[in-house]
Amino acid sequence: MRVATPLCARAERATGIDMARPDDRTFVPVLNLRGGRSRGQPATGRLWVGLSRVRARVAGRIARARPTGSNERARLRSGKQEGVMKAAVRDRYGPPEIVRVEDVDMPVPAGDQALVRVEAASVNRADLDGLGPRPAFARLIIGIRAPRNHAVGIDVAGVVESIGPAVTRFKPGDRVFGDMFSFGAGAFAEYTCAPERAFQLIPDGMSFEDAATLPHSAILALQSLRLRKGRTIEPGSHVLIDGASGNVGPFAVQIAKAMGAEVTGVCRTEKVEFVRSLGADHVIDYTAVDYTRTGERYDWIVDTDSHHSLLAVRHALRPGGVYVTLGGTGLPILGALLLGPVISRAAGKPMGLLIWWRPFNAAPDDVGRLKDLIAAGKVRPVIDRRFPLSQIVEALRYVDDGKPKGKVLIITT
Ligand SMILES: NC(=O)c1ccc[n+]([C@@H]2O[C@H](COP(=O)([O-])OP(=O)(O)OC[C@H]3O[C@@H](n4cnc5c(N)ncnc54)[C@H](OP(=O)(O)O)[C@@H]3O)[C@@H](O)[C@H]2O)c1
Repeated sequence: MRVATPLCARAERATGIDMARPDDRTFVPVLNLRGGRSRGQPATGRLWVGLSRVRARVAGRIARARPTGSNERARLRSGKQEGVMKAAVRDRYGPPEIVRVEDVDMPVPAGDQALVRVEAASVNRADLDGLGPRPAFARLIIGIRAPRNHAVGIDVAGVVESIGPAVTRFKPGDRVFGDMFSFGAGAFAEYTCAPERAFQLIPDGMSFEDAATLPHSAILALQSLRLRKGRTIEPGSHVLIDGASGNVGPFAVQIAKAMGAEVTGVCRTEKVEFVRSLGADHVIDYTAVDYTRTGERYDWIVDTDSHHSLLAVRHALRPGGVYVTLGGTGLPILGALLLGPVISRAAGKPMGLLIWWRPFNAAPDDVGRLKDLIAAGKVRPVIDRRFPLSQIVEALRYVDDGKPKGKVLIITT
């Protein structure tokens, strides 16, 4: 793995590819350099480390929403049809309040692209990180003075409105969902456009709202419960989900339960009952108890927002236990990144940052497994609140402040 922001910038210059829109084999661990949890406050930085296996064929294939007054309007006009749509856009960096809803050109699907009429979208931590940006140096990749891509939103569910001539998997009217993280975002809009490989059919019986909760967070949850080489938890394993109450955690709790584990969730006081309602056998309130100091030992720990050093977490693992962190605060996550391999070897316990993430579009097996778990009633998307697109700022602020107990939806119809 290479931590290579300069490398990304160089590659971007050399290839003309926007590294903020990596292709499907990208891993983008997120390191939160905040000195502590600071929801709703200016972050000191969230270190986005993007490692992209760049594919030149990605370049120029994604139609992105731009304010109609954008400087690049003329360049994009050839790919747009008459008409406009409502979309959340931002043209500078900052807190959720910089986002606004306005009329933008409606994209026209070209080549292998599908235009999807958005029925529901959901908010993820990644949406908020992109606004900041967190960390600040992500500007080197996504635009120094202002973001090059004005579109916002990654998790989407909707109906195929029209297709490009090379589309083979979908037809107008199909119900689809997807994660636009790798495709220029744009889920918080009336329509969104991406290559057909961004999308999968929504299973019969699944609502648009439930489908919109899944692509980013549920896939990440599934992958956090196995190692790159396939090792995973077993029935009876003792699993701890630190950060059980955010976007990823509730899925991780339910998936671990479905795999037969005894699950402990960690969250703030106000969310203890929520995490219990997800099926957690035990819940720890992190404001009162540090799980690394209780004397309990776990076979597998998933950390969605790392606040402990590897040395502290090591003592909470059983022999051969696994610690997987997805993102988190500065020193712990830097330690996981840099010292993880060393400590793992010395302790005989695999510990470190999840670097085997495959986004929704690159993980069809995981999507299939997720569909099965939901069909079997073993995983249940939990929706906290719905906001109309016109209240996108309120929705983003609500999530950034850490208030939701479940996913927050943006409803566009
Ligand atoms: N590694 C990768 O490849 C990869 C790929 C994509 C995304 N990511 C990253 O993975 C992360 C996913 O997290 P998410 O979306 O679930 O984030 P989230 O919704 O912000 O949830 C964060 C969780 O951390 C908990 N938390 C906050 N402060 C805490 C503290 N002091 N001690 C213990 N827990 C605390 C929160 O609990 P309360 O709400 O109860 O306070 C919440 O459960 C994001 O950072 C995302 O960017 C990683």
